[in-house]
Amino acid sequence: MATVAQAVQNELVSLIPISSGALSSLTDSMRYSTLSSGKRLRPFLLMESAAMFDVPTKQSVRVAAAVELIHCYSLVHDDLPAMDNDDLRRGQPSNHKVFGEATAILAGDALLTLAFEALNRPDTNIDSEIRCQLSYGLARAAGISGMIGGQAIDLHAGDRTLNLSEVAQLQQLKTGSLFGFSVEAGAILGHATAADRSALEEYAQALGLAFQITDDLLDVEGNQNETGKTVGKDNAAGKATFISLLGIAGARSEAQTLIKRANICLEQFNDGARFLREVAQFVISRTH
Ligand code: IPE
Ligand code: IPE
Ligand code: MG
Ligand code: MG
Ligand code: MG
Repeated sequence: MATVAQAVQNELVSLIPISSGALSSLTDSMRYSTLSSGKRLRPFLLMESAAMFDVPTKQSVRVAAAVELIHCYSLVHDDLPAMDNDDLRRGQPSNHKVFGEATAILAGDALLTLAFEALNRPDTNIDSEIRCQLSYGLARAAGISGMIGGQAIDLHAGDRTLNLSEVAQLQQLKTGSLFGFSVEAGAILGHATAADRSALEEYAQALGLAFQITDDLLDVEGNQNETGKTVGKDNAAGKATFISLLGIAGARSEAQTLIKRANICLEQFNDGARFLREVAQFVISRTH
């Protein structure tokens, strides 16, 4: 994971402009929330999926950076006072606490658009038909049919009226979509067969859901120093989550069942999928 994280970090450094004058606070704000210490899990999924199909790192790292830019923008906006009103992210004050709300909103907007600019830059070194498929897939995963749709439903989780299948659907959208795109992108870059693509899709679906369940568990049981985020905020906001609906033990066992399912989907890839199996293990044992 460390090698991928370093490669993506270098790519992100080169993609985000440094400005002086009137734009400096915007670009400082973009760099602040992107170059901070994220786990880079989506880039890892993307680059490891691509590696299974022998895609050159030079290609996959650009797409991985694009996904991470979208993810970082989503975190900046998720923390805003109008959303989760969170003061801590990745162990440092949230973007709006440092740069102010207006700049945080614009930084999020700029990171979102930069992702598509990066994916389509002339030096991307990816065939235009493939770039087109990737842009379409990323737009769908990030937008109303994906992450933003999930965030919108999440706004209604605060009155605890959602049932288990509604919570699963919301988590699938808000978190699962970008996980799904990450493995799908590896398969698109690698011209994978339909059977391989659908196995990876199913893997990502189970993994994404398990990941959000552990995020919710860490919100209840986690340690702020390790997670780098405020804990206890879901309960304080009265959010419907797997934990509010199933309890801690029930949520944990659901996450374990999902990880078993994720691993079954990888069987056809044999040893090629060993890093994807490691991610699945990390997702249920993580403390940050
Ligand atoms: C946090 O994602 C937001 C969710 C979708 C739960 P991560 O836990 O991957 O955050 P970073 O990138 O490591 O900070
Ligand atoms: C956020 O979910 C998912 C996003 C799309 C950003 P959360 O609100 O649970 O994420 P954290 O706990 O703030 O990282
Ligand atoms: Mg949120
Ligand atoms: Mg949040
Ligand atoms: Mg959370």
